Amino acid sequence: MSERLTPMTDARKAGVPLTTEQLEHGAREHLWPHFTRTSLYEGGSIPIITKAEGKYIWDQHGNKLFDGLSGLFSVNAGHGHERLAEAAKKQLMQMDFVPLWSFAHPPAIELGERLLSYAPNGLDRVFFTTGGGEANETAWKLAKQYFKMIGKPLKHKVLTRKTAYHGTSHGALSLTGIANMKKAFEPLVPSTFRVPNTNWYRAKDDFATEEEFGLWAANRVEEMILMEDPDTVAAFFFEPVQNSGGAYTSHKSYFKRVREICDKYDVILVADETIDGFGRTGTMFASEKYDFEPDMLVCAKAITNSVMPLGALMMKEKFYEPFKKGMNIFPHGYTFAASPASCAVALENLDMYDEMDLIGHVQANQDNFKKTLDKLSDLDIVGDVRGTGYFYAIELVKVKETKARFDLEEIEKLLRGFITKDLYSKGLYCRADDRGDPVVQLAPPLTSDQADFDMMEAKVRETLTKAWDIVK
Ligand SMILES: Cc1ncc(COP(=O)(O)O)c(C=O)c1O
Repeated sequence: MSERLTPMTDARKAGVPLTTEQLEHGAREHLWPHFTRTSLYEGGSIPIITKAEGKYIWDQHGNKLFDGLSGLFSVNAGHGHERLAEAAKKQLMQMDFVPLWSFAHPPAIELGERLLSYAPNGLDRVFFTTGGGEANETAWKLAKQYFKMIGKPLKHKVLTRKTAYHGTSHGALSLTGIANMKKAFEPLVPSTFRVPNTNWYRAKDDFATEEEFGLWAANRVEEMILMEDPDTVAAFFFEPVQNSGGAYTSHKSYFKRVREICDKYDVILVADETIDGFGRTGTMFASEKYDFEPDMLVCAKAITNSVMPLGALMMKEKFYEPFKKGMNIFPHGYTFAASPASCAVALENLDMYDEMDLIGHVQANQDNFKKTLDKLSDLDIVGDVRGTGYFYAIELVKVKETKARFDLEEIEKLLRGFITKDLYSKGLYCRADDRGDPVVQLAPPLTSDQADFDMMEAKVRETLTKAWDIVK
């Protein structure tokens, strides 16, 4: 055993609190943070979060920050719920682990039924994973095998939307519509095709109404299916409200038309609700809000309030039917999917969401959240404030009147050089993102109220006002 790497363990075993220096050194020398440009922390330290409670998190220096991103769009009820810890403990003492391979267990069985009870009509079967990306991966693999089994073996291609993010494994990354995130890993899984997203802000000059634009965007799905040949297209994946690019909502016409198109060409409609689910948009699932019925629905993140890893793919029973016969099997699964403690926590969490009436709270307050954030539209740098529920993006532009964009250097200076750091220093954790056009994303805990909205608006206003001075 290495002596070199154990001082922190020695300290913990001796009951001595870890020092900030130890933590910063360990993080710098040995930890690889995800999706992080580590050079930004050269000569300093990455934030190390040491405590989370309610709507707040604290870093290694004792700074208290409002969690304006709910962890990663996922701690919907806020942090530190003892009942979730108790549920995990109780389950671990009863039965700590069995795989879902050749076994079932009570928490997975109950959770499957519970999730399906919230799901749109027609979804009757659930396949568990440990997160959203794996659930998308599962959906695509299942779609390919299903069509082979029912005598449509050529159906394997998938359509996804521009700028959408669906995960990082080779399959889920292939579904992702962000070239920058993919190029280092090419060649990826072939047979994915991109259709437009529903960025109304950038489209509205060309369409009379959002309804018309929604129909146009949906018809591009049909166009691509026809171009690729319907006999070869298996599925269309999309988020009802797309996060990457900045909270793109759609007119109801979009969902209705996409549903018709998928029915017409026997293409599986997959709603990726990894972020949208569990109240984020003001209903349990966004499919309910927009009144459409997907063939498959992916959820994860807030399913356990993010305190345990879990994801799920819900689907129509017809996808399971061919597997009931003979020696047929779906050769796919994950060791930790539906671990008993994750399922027990998810069940407790869903009870808690119900008892807290989180969805009722969002419904009662979402208009005020929108009204408060809309005030930011008077800033020169703000082109658009968009989103729904407790899920918003503020798009930054160089020239408001023409919607002219900042160039790459300016975006770099703005987002990484200033906005993220300045908001952090003001005690607001949220995300400045440029996977599409540059946006500040806000997705606070669903317990947030008017005082929180006002605080976020004031801090973002101050930061964006200074940001404008830097680039104007
Ligand atoms: C829409 C969407 N799909 C899939 C994923 C991947 O989920 P996970 O990180 O749980 O694999 C994410 C993660 O943020 C997401 O936002």
